[in-house]
Amino acid sequence: MLARIRIIFGALALVGLMALAVPAGAQQSTAVNPTASSVKEQQLLQRLQRVEGRITIPDEKASVLIQPEGRDWRRFHNVTLRWIGAIVILGMLVVLVVFYLWRGMVRIEGGRSGRTIVRFTAVERFVHWMTASCFIILALSGLNITFGKALLLPLVGPSAFSTWSEMAKYAHNYLSFPFTLGVVLIFLMWIAWNLPTFTDFKWLAQGGGIVGSKHPPAGRFNAGQKAIYWIVVLGGGAAAVTGYLLMFPFYATDIAGMQLAQMVHGVVGLVFIAIMLAHIYIGTIGMQGAFQAMGRGEVDANWARQHHSLWLEKQAKKGRVRGAAPAE
Ligand code: HEM
Repeated sequence: MLARIRIIFGALALVGLMALAVPAGAQQSTAVNPTASSVKEQQLLQRLQRVEGRITIPDEKASVLIQPEGRDWRRFHNVTLRWIGAIVILGMLVVLVVFYLWRGMVRIEGGRSGRTIVRFTAVERFVHWMTASCFIILALSGLNITFGKALLLPLVGPSAFSTWSEMAKYAHNYLSFPFTLGVVLIFLMWIAWNLPTFTDFKWLAQGGGIVGSKHPPAGRFNAGQKAIYWIVVLGGGAAAVTGYLLMFPFYATDIAGMQLAQMVHGVVGLVFIAIMLAHIYIGTIGMQGAFQAMGRGEVDANWARQHHSLWLEKQAKKGRVRGAAPAE
């Protein structure tokens, strides 16, 4: 009997000890905080606005992990730039759709005459289409850098998105070279016809024949086309310079310069895309007979009279209008 009582008491004592041991262990784990004496990254950031340490390599900038300008830049890249892009590109698309519904295609008055004039040589057309095709791929791959993660990744999933993004980034880097060459050639090839003249002001004052119903006189390029020319030369130049600063990081600039280059590159690229949408509109569905200028290289004499009367006069004097005049 005594032995049984001893066993029962022994078992109860054991259970009691185990019960005490559990909260004691739990108390111990909360009582000891292994990082209590060290500063947390978040606290450092709040105090100093940057996280930076000591390094043993000569590259000084590698010692900075986080800095306030970096966070500002990240916000610009992830939020502000997306808003700018959405507003200018979607805004331009809306304007073009509304304009098309209101104005329709600008037709050749009196139809085609059957007489033609060479407008662009094969070399000019080659340079135009090389630059244009590079631009379209640069635009799509650039849009992927700004919007891909937010819009495409949720649709196609991480695997397809990373494969496409890798290809797009290679294309973006390598096609920048023929694009830059194209911009330089466009600058040299057409500068002679793109300097502003008094005729441009008169052309603009009359709505350029696109907005109103008049057809103000213009030379080989009208004021609208001259604007496109300078946007391509200056916008393409700015995109190229900032793009090469990004492609060869820290060779010519520091962290602040890299951030500025990225911001300028992003804004110029997005505004450039929006403006080229308007150019593509006029060159295709916006104006009858325009596409064949860059397609076949020839335009109809009636088209030239309507849109580039001063140029037509000069071409006619040089005997460059081909084909028989229509019977009276
Ligand atoms: C699918 C895309 C494009 C189409 C359909 C197109 C169409 C045209 C057409 C028809 C012309 C001749 C206008 C005329 O005879 O008066 C032209 C001219 C020109 N294009 Fe394009 N183009 C496209 C893309 C581009 C791109 C991406 C660039 C540059 C980045 C560009 C730069 C120019 C320039 C500088 C001119 C001469 C100025 C002017 O006519 O506005 N084009 N284009």
